[in-house]
Amino acid sequence: MAKHGGRNEPYDVLVIGSGAAGLTAALALAPSVRVLVLAKGSLTGGSTAWAQGGIAAVLDAGDTFEDHIRDTMVAGAGLNDRETVEFVIERAPQSIDRLCELGVPFNREEHALHLTREGGHSHRRIVHVDDATGWAVQSALLKAAEDHPNITLLPGRTCIDFITDRHREAFSAAGRVWGVYALDEASGHVERHLARATVLATGGAGRVYQFSTAPRGATGDGIAMAWRAGARVSNMEMMQFHPTCLYNLDVKNFLITEAVRGEGGHLLHPETGRRFMVDYDPERMELAPRDVVARAIDDQIKRFGLDYVHLDISHQPEDFVRGHFPTIHEKLLGLGIDMTKQPIPVVPAQHYTCGGVVVDLAARTDVPGLWAAGECTESGLHGANRLASNSLLECFVFGEAAAQDILAHWDTLEAPPAILPWDESRVTDSDEEVVIKQNWTEIRRFMWNYVGIVRTTKRLERAASRIELLKREVEDYYGAFRVTTDLIELRNLLQAAELIVQSALRRKESRGLHYTLDYPALADEAKDTVLVP
Ligand code: FAD
Ligand code: SIN
Repeated sequence: MAKHGGRNEPYDVLVIGSGAAGLTAALALAPSVRVLVLAKGSLTGGSTAWAQGGIAAVLDAGDTFEDHIRDTMVAGAGLNDRETVEFVIERAPQSIDRLCELGVPFNREEHALHLTREGGHSHRRIVHVDDATGWAVQSALLKAAEDHPNITLLPGRTCIDFITDRHREAFSAAGRVWGVYALDEASGHVERHLARATVLATGGAGRVYQFSTAPRGATGDGIAMAWRAGARVSNMEMMQFHPTCLYNLDVKNFLITEAVRGEGGHLLHPETGRRFMVDYDPERMELAPRDVVARAIDDQIKRFGLDYVHLDISHQPEDFVRGHFPTIHEKLLGLGIDMTKQPIPVVPAQHYTCGGVVVDLAARTDVPGLWAAGECTESGLHGANRLASNSLLECFVFGEAAAQDILAHWDTLEAPPAILPWDESRVTDSDEEVVIKQNWTEIRRFMWNYVGIVRTTKRLERAASRIELLKREVEDYYGAFRVTTDLIELRNLLQAAELIVQSALRRKESRGLHYTLDYPALADEAKDTVLVP
């Protein structure tokens, strides 16, 4: 029975993160080996629980894998890896079957699953649970994990850094990962968690931007940890901005799902009521891929000095709107907006980290002993811009792939060696929490202003020099004081910012999500930006 345990003993496999990727891996491993799942804060604190629109899969007789592959690669502006795209898309129906078996109550129309539509998709192919798919998926995965005797769930643990050969009692220069040092958020004590294999599933780095739809904990921890342990990171400049985040002075990160546009919503100039997408993508209009729509809204806002644009679905019947979007309808009513009668004020906001830790089709990273899955990775699926609702799908396919690869190589995975304890010499509590707050705010603001939807080399260089200054300050601070979750996150946020800016500076073209006024054209060849530690 389920264990929100606290034992500090070696498990067979350590999974870091309790979202879609982490729990999929844990559930696939658990019939064979004992698994420990660690999570920062609560077990439902990742992006998975917040997903609205749904999961893309070819399920309709009129749809084909080839169409889904093509849509994914058109959105990704040719930077996708075709083999990975095929690998994921062909496994999508199987992933949906497994979720149905776990009891995810997907919407149905008569006997078939109801399929909605989102930007960039040439067919209706998004399975969903109303407009709160993520919560239903997170709950079903968590219940299955809680019920499994071989899975121990340990929330309230902020992982700090991987334990590698450098931390062995008998020093070794090799780079294998043996587990992780993690802060117990309640006691302030740093624990060692050891295992034969570690799966990283820590989600994205969205909170590096001032405006983001992502939850508070999306600070790029796993990407920064893997980078420090020697893993390559790629395409970090490909930060996705969702076109339609609610504009509200009090509620800053509430997403208005793309399915609102999929079900007929129009984007309008708030003063003239004009459908401005006709000027940017007259064929696809509101259903163009996200990078195109987000840039169009950004352009309207800047050109006309607006605070927001309007997203309007009030021309659809009231029952239809309420029926499709019950969560959003309810939330907006609470804020005084009736979306069945009024337009919704929206702005673009950071939404998804397309880049991340480089993995192969078996979810292996460059570092022996370390697998990774989900938003913290760059698998080749998304290329220069993720197609809507392909992200949860990637979590299921790569979470499963990591588990199968670990089990297939189980006999070759050694038991962890004796490991040094965490260096407890930093025992002084910080007396200047204001430094952390100030730096958090500063990073998020300059990343928004200098490394946002439209970039220039000069702005990127400005951001790079701010990062250099802050790095010294944060490292001094990190070296001097007892670690806290805020300090760990700040260090990682800064590392993620540096990876984004360095990647953006290297890309001398505009492709997908990376748009720079200095290199507005597409280069002849699509190349990943791979950073090597
Ligand atoms: P997450 O679900 O983010 O989980 C990360 C886990 O890692 C958490 O448990 C967290 O606590 C843990 N963690 C992080 N750092 C540490 C640390 N230092 N130590 C220990 N644990 C740590 N995608 C779709 O496909 N369809 C959608 O409809 C959709 N809608 C979205 C709506 C919103 C508002 C957002 C923000 C995203 C949406 N996405 C959607 C994207 C999708 O939800 C995410 O990409 C996906 O859920 C990521 O899953 P994950 O398992 O990789 O990470
Ligand atoms: C949305 O519902 O618009 C988000 C879908 C996604 O991020 O894939």
